[in-house]
Amino acid sequence: MEDKKVIFSGIQPTGTFTLGNYIGAVRNWKPLQDEYNCIYCVVNMHAITVRQEPAKLRKNTLDAYALLMACGIDPEKSILFIQSHVKTHAELSWVLSCATQFGELSRMTQFKDKSKRHPDDINAGLFTYPVLMASDILAYNADLVPVGVDQKQHLELARNIAQRFNQRYGELFKIPDAYIPEVGAKVMSLQEPTKKMSKSDENPNACILILDDKDTIIRKFKRAVTDSESEICYREGKDGINNLMTIYSSVTGKNFDEITSEFAGKGYGDFKIAVGEAVADHLAPIREKFAEYSADKEYLKKCYTEGAEKALAYSQRIVSKAYRKVGFVDIK
Ligand code: TRP
Repeated sequence: MEDKKVIFSGIQPTGTFTLGNYIGAVRNWKPLQDEYNCIYCVVNMHAITVRQEPAKLRKNTLDAYALLMACGIDPEKSILFIQSHVKTHAELSWVLSCATQFGELSRMTQFKDKSKRHPDDINAGLFTYPVLMASDILAYNADLVPVGVDQKQHLELARNIAQRFNQRYGELFKIPDAYIPEVGAKVMSLQEPTKKMSKSDENPNACILILDDKDTIIRKFKRAVTDSESEICYREGKDGINNLMTIYSSVTGKNFDEITSEFAGKGYGDFKIAVGEAVADHLAPIREKFAEYSADKEYLKKCYTEGAEKALAYSQRIVSKAYRKVGFVDIK
């Protein structure tokens, strides 16, 4: 690989992505491939920190992989792989867990939230989740990590762990920075537009999945919650309309002024249908590519096998150095 900066990001295999995951994150991963050495990982090991049905996890992992390809991640250009295929992540995770304090992990807000939500399964993996995430990043000496706000605390911890390790054992790890994309709007729930769009929302109309078909997408947008006015413009307090404008803008490239003039004199009903159609048209090629990739199991397997080989070769160099630095005996 040439001398470009390294970007690492991971995504959980939770079935299909939402329009929020797509617009806020995955969509920005594609253009990064030209400027950076990109390493993208389906983090199925993180997934088992909450209870999973094994068959479903297996399917979701392969689907996530095929979806990333459908979203334009090119396994020839980037290293695209499945976390459990690359043993260095777990190996480094052990070493780094010994450089992480109980107190630090106890302060992670995601751990606190998740343990509240799953009080019957506060497992050790859930607690050490951020150490595995730090290992994902540090095993590749990543310069930049695209993360949403919910992962900022984990990235901060990864930086602290890297610094502590370097101080204790001598320079090894790069201190990774957060990568905040220039565009990358936050998509809100269609039913409660002050809340983030989420697949776990109980109301299925709140969330667009990127594999939803056109009719479903349009139906969900038609039911989107707006306000009692009639003007289509971006203004504080108009959360529902602002969200629709953000979505429309990010799939059409039009700015808010252009959208306001386009819909001057038209009603919310027309606008909602237009947003639905624009989103459905934008997502149609992704759906088609996804169907193509996931039907071709052999090709998919070839891609993730080669991805894992590249990821192992890359991370092994760094993890071997970490082993040596802490005083593990070489075998050769
Ligand atoms: N914890 C991240 C999330 O839930 C996923 C993740 C795992 C990740 N390892 C990573 C993200 C490394 C960035 C870098 O979104």
